[in-house]
Amino acid sequence: MNNKEKPIGFFDSGVGGISVLKESLKVLPSEDFVYFGDSLNAPYGTKNVNEVRKLTFNAMDFLLSKGVKVVVIACNTATSAAIDALRQKYTDIPIIGIEPALKPAVEISKGKSIIIMATPMTLSEKKFSNLMDKYDKEVNIISLPCAGLVELIEDGITEGHQIEEYLRDKLKKFMYLDVACIVLGCTHYPFIKNELIKIVGEKTTIIDGSVGTVNQLKRQLASNNLLNEKKTKGTVTVYNSLNNKQIIDLSYKLLRL
Ligand code: DGL
Repeated sequence: MNNKEKPIGFFDSGVGGISVLKESLKVLPSEDFVYFGDSLNAPYGTKNVNEVRKLTFNAMDFLLSKGVKVVVIACNTATSAAIDALRQKYTDIPIIGIEPALKPAVEISKGKSIIIMATPMTLSEKKFSNLMDKYDKEVNIISLPCAGLVELIEDGITEGHQIEEYLRDKLKKFMYLDVACIVLGCTHYPFIKNELIKIVGEKTTIIDGSVGTVNQLKRQLASNNLLNEKKTKGTVTVYNSLNNKQIIDLSYKLLRL
């Protein structure tokens, strides 16, 4: 098999990265994808950094054993904890990470407030404070750690009263603010976007990092001469450390949503 025909590896702490994979299928329809979700160890966002780094290295080795040509760390938490260390160790393969889409949010906020929902780890890591330093003089940016939300989504709960109550409780103290934009800084959260719209209304823009990440993936494939040139539709194979039918079924269900 030549390198162009190899699959693209995707990794997340669980089913969240499926939201990024979904966007990739639109942009790169003839690529093959191998997705690995580490639901056995999810959530990552409330663990310590060394633990997340170790788990991310294990996931990387698993994807490499599947013969991937590039890896997307489709997890904001794992990206913030491990991307630099990964790139230092695995120098032969392009590695793409994801980060909260603060730049596009600032561009559309026109001086109004921005809320960033993400895991506690993403919001406390250096990568995020560097990002904040760039933009928080221009606009009021509120960091909103959302411990507990990933667990609900991992259980397949993406709508209904539990999600609604969780979000209402989290957002109630910001309701008086003129919020232009909510940034979903965790790849699990796009799956609860409809519930979020019900609470904040249609005029608040909700954005996530998947479009930027997929554009970066495409650029990396092109510049490394790795784009698959076949004319037929690619395949998606999902693996999960939980290794049961329920989580694999949930992954494919979220992919079709
Ligand atoms: N999808 C992961 C992210 O983007 C969730 C991390 C977690 O497992 O807490 O941050």
